[in-house]
Amino acid sequence: MGEPERDPYTGRMTTGHEWNGINELATPVPKLVLIFLALTFISSLIIWILAPAWPSVNNYTKGILGIDQRTTLENSLEKADAITTPWRNEINSKEFTEILNNDDLMKTVRQHGARLFADNCAMCHGTDATGGYGYPSLVDDQWLWGGDPATIMETLRIGVNSGHSESRISQMMAYGRDGILTLDQRRTVGSYILSLTQGTNADDAKLKAGSEIFMQQCQSCHGSDGRGMRSVGAPNLTDDFWIYGGDPVAIDQTLREGRQGVMPFWDDRLSLADRKALTLYVLDLAETRK
Ligand code: HEC
Ligand code: HEC
Repeated sequence: MGEPERDPYTGRMTTGHEWNGINELATPVPKLVLIFLALTFISSLIIWILAPAWPSVNNYTKGILGIDQRTTLENSLEKADAITTPWRNEINSKEFTEILNNDDLMKTVRQHGARLFADNCAMCHGTDATGGYGYPSLVDDQWLWGGDPATIMETLRIGVNSGHSESRISQMMAYGRDGILTLDQRRTVGSYILSLTQGTNADDAKLKAGSEIFMQQCQSCHGSDGRGMRSVGAPNLTDDFWIYGGDPVAIDQTLREGRQGVMPFWDDRLSLADRKALTLYVLDLAETRK
């Protein structure tokens, strides 16, 4: 190691280190880099003071600006709400017929209704609301509980066999399992109800016997003409729409095991405006399918 000396080419001092005749210049860190380092440090100090920064065991330093991602999120949700609230307010404040006759509002209903339906209802009632095995079609004009807007909205609010304190109760009893009717009696009444829709080749005596069982066991819910009763959600047995199938095997199973369809309640899961929009959406779908 030699003495530091001035380098004749650059005019800078050397460090005195020397390798095989090559001297090391004492080049200082450029000022600009030092300034940046200082600025970085100062700005992190400022941010530590202003914004949430240092975690502790079960808390963190909050910073004097009170910035909070949760409040930021809430604010942006509020903004989104402000965009959608006008239609919700309008739908809340207007009568069903008024909305149905208002093309602009119905456009909104179709748009938001389709989204709400896809998110909440389609998994059971099908994407086109035509239902499927165990789930009634909502667009066939055959209503278990009633198809006027107020009734549909109430079905949405409280559900069916849903566990809601005001839930609608749908009870088709298990005539076989519970030993109320023998297999023979179930077949007899089964062929009677099929005769209501399809005509039949069963003999008169059998039909008469079936009709007697029907009057004793079934008419209190399905009506003496078999057309159902909305107060108990009993379906019309004289049309071509079957929730659980209308062939002898399916009817046999219905009579043997009973049926208790469950429709969830939406009381606390969808707002009033959303339930109203869905009601209108379903009615609109049914109308366009006619
Ligand atoms: C978990 C499945 C399921 C989901 C999800 C569901 N439903 Fe239902 N829904 C049913 C069943 C089952 C019934 C028939 C209940 C009965 O037996 O009375 C029903 C009945 C209904 C009825 C009454 C039909 C009538 O004929 O009176 C309406 C209206 C209805 N649903 C609309 C909706 C809407 C709108 C949604 C979405 C918010 C929805 N449902 C979500 C299963 C479901
Ligand atoms: C206490 C009322 C009640 C009585 C009594 C009753 N039912 Fe029902 N029945 C219902 C209800 C409610 C449903 C709908 C169940 C559901 O949607 O989950 C139903 C459904 C049915 C279905 C299925 C319809 C479909 O669309 O798939 C058949 C078939 C039927 N009942 C036949 C009968 C016969 C036959 C009797 C007499 C032996 C009878 N029911 C007695 C209430 C009743």
